[in-house]
Amino acid sequence: MSTVKKGFPEGFLWGGATAANQLEGAYNEDGKGLSSADMVVYVPKEKRTGGHAIEITSEQIEKILSGELQDARFPKRYGIDFYHHYKEDIALFAEMGFKVFRLSINWARIFPNGDDAEPNEAGLQFYDNVFDELHKYGIEPLVTLAHYETPLGLTMKYNGWASREVIGCFTKYAETVFRRYKDKVKYWLTFNEINMMTISPFTGGGVVIDRVDNKLQTIYQALHHQFVASSLATKLCHEIIPDAKIGCMLARMESYAHTCNPEDVLKNQQENQRNLFFTDVHARGEYPTYMNRYFEENNIVIQKEAGDDEILKKYTVDYISFSYYMTLTISAEPGGDRAEGNLFGGVKNPYLKASDWGWQIDPTGLRITLNTMYDRYKKPLFIVENGLGAYDKVEDDGSIHDTYRIDYLRQHIAQMKEAIADGVDLIGYTSWGPIDLISMSTSEMSKRYGFIYVDQDDEGNGTLERSRKDSFFWYKNVIAANGEEL
Ligand code: BG6
Repeated sequence: MSTVKKGFPEGFLWGGATAANQLEGAYNEDGKGLSSADMVVYVPKEKRTGGHAIEITSEQIEKILSGELQDARFPKRYGIDFYHHYKEDIALFAEMGFKVFRLSINWARIFPNGDDAEPNEAGLQFYDNVFDELHKYGIEPLVTLAHYETPLGLTMKYNGWASREVIGCFTKYAETVFRRYKDKVKYWLTFNEINMMTISPFTGGGVVIDRVDNKLQTIYQALHHQFVASSLATKLCHEIIPDAKIGCMLARMESYAHTCNPEDVLKNQQENQRNLFFTDVHARGEYPTYMNRYFEENNIVIQKEAGDDEILKKYTVDYISFSYYMTLTISAEPGGDRAEGNLFGGVKNPYLKASDWGWQIDPTGLRITLNTMYDRYKKPLFIVENGLGAYDKVEDDGSIHDTYRIDYLRQHIAQMKEAIADGVDLIGYTSWGPIDLISMSTSEMSKRYGFIYVDQDDEGNGTLERSRKDSFFWYKNVIAANGEEL
């Protein structure tokens, strides 16, 4: 009898993934404080440098807070107004048959300044309402504690995660929500794409990098604080909700050597190690030795306190989650024809097509990465983001024929099935942005991932009316057939 697994396991967690700052809106309602995402100004494509505009300087923060930027728009403050539409949106997720819905709690809704003595009851109540609504339809919430929403108060007071003080603020917040939602939430994640800190410290950790002299030192020190905080949150979660599972989250950048030239292969191996560093710490419970040389050559000295290494070792994650949109191709030669990506670099891969935003589409790469990660960690894997950001066209009759999105998802899900047959323990899949929302990297609305269309444009105009795209009906069927019909 064959021991090869055929198809998705029973109880596989199909659903969609979002983040509070791209979804909720209501940025100043019911006692919410400002968060890092609320400071991000929309910059139209033609004025952007490097394809995105998410890092912020001290000067910009001052100007925003003093009201000097009169004409600036902040789309992440308004999202798609899930705050007032959550019942309608969750009903649509239920209609698709979602088993799980990934969302983040906006930390500044619970602790408006990040270090308040008491939590904000209205903020806590909002998530109670959302979780109750999900459970009404049998949908499990999967909650990210930190998805680029560091309270601005922590940036102003401590320069965000650059300071060790923030560990205590975070664990207090984590403990508060674990206690409050212990009967409602059984799947948790600590930091979304924890490796974001190396690309955009403000996005990843509320760190304003022009305030410090040694940028790399600050980035890796802030990451150390997040690693310790993540382990402490894991400890608390297990103590408070013994039947919960808590994981880490990585922007996985599977990469290929550009050629079989050993120099390319070596460079690629180093890039790959620096990407897996984050999951290595979370899953293996220690800093990998390959980072020692990188730290030394870049004058990085991590300040650890007594007991930090034991904490990392003792409280490792239950499962590993990651986002997967594309792969990278690494060349040892500088320059070359560069590919676009979600903030990560690389040269163009001639075998791959790219999205409208230049992200290189690679379904087979998903099978490769699932195998890589399972081989390495032997822990359950959860794909918590994947999808195609694309322009959609609304036809005269209101329909939206997003065959490109269906094709993308179909091919990726087919490769997940292959990986399961390869022996990978994959427990769930939440595609990114099941309902159109604000883009993280560009703050655009026109970069759409959803099965559900939202009537709003890049300038914030529109009725916010929701409608079903063709992919809505397709995904509904995929879930009903547990992935057997793509
Ligand atoms: C991931 C983030 O990097 O990619 C999400 O966790 C983000 O917040 C997603 O939205 C897609 O990126 P973008 O820039 O197309 O919104």
